[in-house]
Amino acid sequence: MAVTAQAFKDAASMQDLYDLLARCGIENGWNKPEPSLYALPKKELGPAHFSWVLGRAALDAAGRFVNTEHAERRNLILANPAPGNKYPTVKTLVAAYQMVKGGEVARSHRHTANALRLVLDTGERAYTIVEGKKIPMEPGDVLLTPNWYWHGHSNEGPSNAYWMDFLDVPTVHMLGPMFFEHHPDDVESANEVATQSPCRFPWAETVARLAESPEVNPGQREIELGSPALATMALHVTRLDAGASFSVEPSTLNCIYAPMQGAGEAAIDGQTFGWSRGDALAVPSSSPHTWTAHEESYLLRVSDKPLLERLDWLRPVPARP
Ligand SMILES: [Fe+2]
Repeated sequence: MAVTAQAFKDAASMQDLYDLLARCGIENGWNKPEPSLYALPKKELGPAHFSWVLGRAALDAAGRFVNTEHAERRNLILANPAPGNKYPTVKTLVAAYQMVKGGEVARSHRHTANALRLVLDTGERAYTIVEGKKIPMEPGDVLLTPNWYWHGHSNEGPSNAYWMDFLDVPTVHMLGPMFFEHHPDDVESANEVATQSPCRFPWAETVARLAESPEVNPGQREIELGSPALATMALHVTRLDAGASFSVEPSTLNCIYAPMQGAGEAAIDGQTFGWSRGDALAVPSSSPHTWTAHEESYLLRVSDKPLLERLDWLRPVPARP
């Protein structure tokens, strides 16, 4: 029987009211097991470290069993190991390792999720085709494939090509506007090789820019790639001299760090990880973190800074256990 306004007038107790509300499918806002508003951000995901040595070995194994004819992408999702989590690396971003074998193509597609890749190991003539242009993939390069840009991969040399992808897919999942389509030609045709492209930050250029940049801390220099590189993601590269370190106070920023060169140690919210080139480290919001380089090192930091700044939600967070 439908609940009437009169039934609420006749309610004789709080329990009667709860029963009527339940029958209407309405939840009371004053007696919930978990409040909707709370004083400080929750720590839902923790720090995590992913090893490139293992990632590369796993991709090589996948190369024996998984064909790019059948799989849209031969990739390994670096899901944060928090209980119950299956996908994001940090709340708003996901990272993945990917490999395209020598002579293989990964067909072209486009999606509303923004993506970028950090090239790890390639030989000659490995390309990402972006909007009809072949963009070279050389170790240390960072390539962009923004929202709705056609992109595919063509590895025309003999060596396997390996890289790390970063996408804002968890943000798209949260907000809802996911669109995806395959290219009508399967692999987008491209004849022109574009070494200079707004979608490519070549490694040599990154190294040169950092060499000319002033120190922001003793032994630390930092540049931004793009301003920002993508609508939802900012990219920064930090260079540390051997023995140098820096610390970052906790904030609402979600980051994934990827060492582009070198080796060292990171203390992230009470956990310590050794790192080296090609690893990925999840630094979720509210995590204080300190990085120390054992040799000259370059760190790529992918963060959701543009998103949080635009929404006016980039804030410091008090340190806590
Ligand atoms: Fe894609």
